Amino acid sequence: MSGSASPRRGWTAVPETITLDAPAKVNLRLCVLAREASGFHALETLFCAVSLSDRLEVRQADEPGIGFAAEGGVEMGPPGANLVVRAAERFYAALGREPRVAIRLSKRIPAAAGLGGGSSDAAAALRALNALHGEPLPPDELLRLGGELGSDVPFFLCGSPLAWAWGRGDRLLALPPLPVRPVLIAHPGTALATADAFRRIARARGAEHRVPAACCELAALTSWDGVAALAVNDFEPFADELVPGLAAARAAMAAAGAAVARLSGSGAALFGIFATAERRDRARAELRAAGMQTWAAETLAALPAPQVDRLRTNS
Ligand code: C5P
Repeated sequence: MSGSASPRRGWTAVPETITLDAPAKVNLRLCVLAREASGFHALETLFCAVSLSDRLEVRQADEPGIGFAAEGGVEMGPPGANLVVRAAERFYAALGREPRVAIRLSKRIPAAAGLGGGSSDAAAALRALNALHGEPLPPDELLRLGGELGSDVPFFLCGSPLAWAWGRGDRLLALPPLPVRPVLIAHPGTALATADAFRRIARARGAEHRVPAACCELAALTSWDGVAALAVNDFEPFADELVPGLAAARAAMAAAGAAVARLSGSGAALFGIFATAERRDRARAELRAAGMQTWAAETLAALPAPQVDRLRTNS
């Protein structure tokens, strides 16, 4: 059930269960700039959310604590280290309230693939918990909590499925979404750790490397043609060296008609943006035959909204 209830006088209806889809992201452009004194790299990137999603359900519980269960067969490590649990801990600390919640995560997005799955789950946890408790934390507080959890988390909290980002990827300009396009996601099955990917770039560049400041005309980000002309990923040469077949797979996507065919994040997932579902599906059949795991998706016109599944009344 979703929607409104008609509470009796003196009673308020509060959500008992919230369900929220947590979409993957691809980076339509990703430039790694200077390594800052903090050890983090300055980035310039264009984030785009896609329909391949995990699903998060948060439910009020009677017992104190943060219950967490995950399904989907994606390797996620111990529950205490899971970003969803850490997001919930931070949420309740900011709220100054003892947690009494059960969280269930259905995983579809491959982990350590450059698709932002863990970050999106964490952002979804913050949004869903905020909805569960009647939106007590303002958006800028959620962004602050998200930024402490990971560099990609704020994007999933910025309110738009398309955003230009800089700093660690946490400074954001939400952009109007582009027209929805079919997307192919392909994963070779090799997990790549983000921190290692940044270390590889830093080592290859050396201390003397001078990175030109990247900047682009925001007007270029208002059409797929403009975005296609800017699409690049600085991690690609490094991922190509580690994972055989990536360059060939991007070439196959381009040959099938992809306007953009790139590595996502620090890899090793690839994505292609297509004008038609037929072209995407042709590329999908080819990459599957080459042994890659593939998903047919679309770019999103809006970030998913929390769904109230059940209401209960409070006096
Ligand atoms: O923020 P996140 O947890 O995704 O980052 C993982 C690691 O990647 C960081 O600890 C850091 O070593 C590296 N990183 C970086 N520059 C960034 C983002 C991440 O060097 N902008």
